[in-house]
Amino acid sequence: MGLNRGVSVVGAGMTRFHNRLHADKTGRELFVEAAIEAAGSVDKGFRFRDAGALFVGNFAGDVFEGQGHTAAVMADWLGINPVPAYRIEDACASSGAALNLGVITIASGMADVVLVGGVEKMSRLTTEQVTDALALAADSSYETSVGFTFPSIYAAIASAYFKKHGAAWEQLAAVTIKNHRNGALNPKAQFQSDILTTARKIGERDGRVFKDEMEFLRSDLNPVIASPLRLFDCCPVSDGASAVILAADEVAWSYTDTPVKIAGIGQASDTIALHSRPDFTTLRAAVKASEDAYRMAGATPRDIDVADVHDCFTIAEVIATEDLGFFPKGEGGKAAEEGLTALNGSLPINPDGGLKAKGHPVGATGVAMAYEMFKQVRGQADRHQVQGAEVGLIHNVGAAGASVAVQIYRRG
Ligand code: COA
Repeated sequence: MGLNRGVSVVGAGMTRFHNRLHADKTGRELFVEAAIEAAGSVDKGFRFRDAGALFVGNFAGDVFEGQGHTAAVMADWLGINPVPAYRIEDACASSGAALNLGVITIASGMADVVLVGGVEKMSRLTTEQVTDALALAADSSYETSVGFTFPSIYAAIASAYFKKHGAAWEQLAAVTIKNHRNGALNPKAQFQSDILTTARKIGERDGRVFKDEMEFLRSDLNPVIASPLRLFDCCPVSDGASAVILAADEVAWSYTDTPVKIAGIGQASDTIALHSRPDFTTLRAAVKASEDAYRMAGATPRDIDVADVHDCFTIAEVIATEDLGFFPKGEGGKAAEEGLTALNGSLPINPDGGLKAKGHPVGATGVAMAYEMFKQVRGQADRHQVQGAEVGLIHNVGAAGASVAVQIYRRG
C-alpha cells in the first residue's frame, strides 16, 4: 500500500481560533482568511487558480450557521469555480479526512495541486445548542437518545481508563497544565495564558489566591462537567478555519525550496456506539490508521519528533499517546505527569496548545494540526518550536474514535 506519487505541503494558514473574536464573521469569511494566509505563505507565490481541486472539512455548518453545500460556497468565495469542490464530513476528523483525500487525489494523478481546508463557526449557538449539534456525531439510537453527550462519553472513557490502569485525575490535570502552557506561546490559540496566570485572574474576581495550578484545578472554580472531567479537561467551543496547499513532489519545488513531505497517511473507522466496543481505553481506529501511516512512511513511533494529537478532552490525549505507540498502555498519563510530553520533553505533544488551549472549531482542527506540523518541521514555530523537529505526526479523531485520520510529515 502506498502513494503512486509523492505529495508535499507547500503552504499553510489558519485564523486564530476563538469563541468571541470572530463574532461578526461568517464561516466563509474565516475560510477565505485562512486560505489567503496559506497562499501568502508559499515562498515562490501561489494563485488559487493553480488548485485542481478543493476539499473542505466541515462538520455541521448546516446547524451552526444555516449553511450547507459548504465546498461550493468556499470555491465561489475563493473565485475558483468551476474547480471540483468537495465537502468532507467525518465529525471532528472532517479536515484530517479531507487532507487524506487531497493527498490521494494528487497521488492518483487527477490534480497536481490541491487546496485543503476546514472551517467551523460554532459560537452563534448557546453551549446547550452546540452540545446537541455535536452529539449528532454520536449514535442516535443508543447514545444521544438516552442523554449521552461528548463530555459524558469521554467521561465514561476516563472512568474506564482509571479503573483499568489504577490511574487518577491528577494525570489529566498534567495534560491541562502542559497544553495551556504551550497555548500561551501560540498567537493562534484561543487561550493564551498558562494555568497559574488563569488562576490568578479568575481568583482575583472571587477574592481568592491559589498557591499553585493544582490547587486551582481542584477548586470549585474548575467545576465538574461530567465526572471525572472538569471544565479544564474539556476543549472549548471555537470558531476558526485552516488551509494547506498540497502539491505533487515534482511540482512542489516550483512553489518552495522547503516543501514538507507527507510521508504516510492512514484513515480508519470503528463502530460509533461505545458500548459495542470491547475496550473503552483504546481507539481501535487510531491504532489501525497509525499502523498504516507508519508502514507507508517506513517509520516507527520512535522516529516521531513531535505530534499533534486530538485532545478534545484530556483523557483523549493520554489514550492517543498510547494508541500511537509512544508509550505503553496505561503509561500515557504518567508520561504527561513526568514531563515527557512537554515542549522540552523527550516527545513533545501538542506544542501548539492542542484542542484544549488552541481551541476546537471541529471541522478546522485536522488541517490546523497539519499547519502546525508544516511550521514545526520547517523550524518556523517560533516560541513553541520543538528544537530539531524533523518528523511530525498528526492524529485527528472523529467523535469518540469512529473516524480517525493520521498523517506523518517529514522535512523535504
Ligand atoms: N476550558 C477552559 N475554560 C473554558 C472552557 C474550557 N473548555 N470553556 C469555557 N471556558 C471559560 C470561558 O472562557 C469563560 O471564561 P470567562 O468568563 O473568563 O470569559 C467561562 O469559562 C464560561 O464560558 P462559557 O462559554 O459560558 O462556558 P460553558 O459552561 O457554557 O461551556 C463547556 C463549557 C466545557 C461545557 C464547553 O466549552 C464545551 O461544551 N466544551 C466541549 C466541546 C466539545 O464537546 N467539542 C467536541 C469534542 S468531541
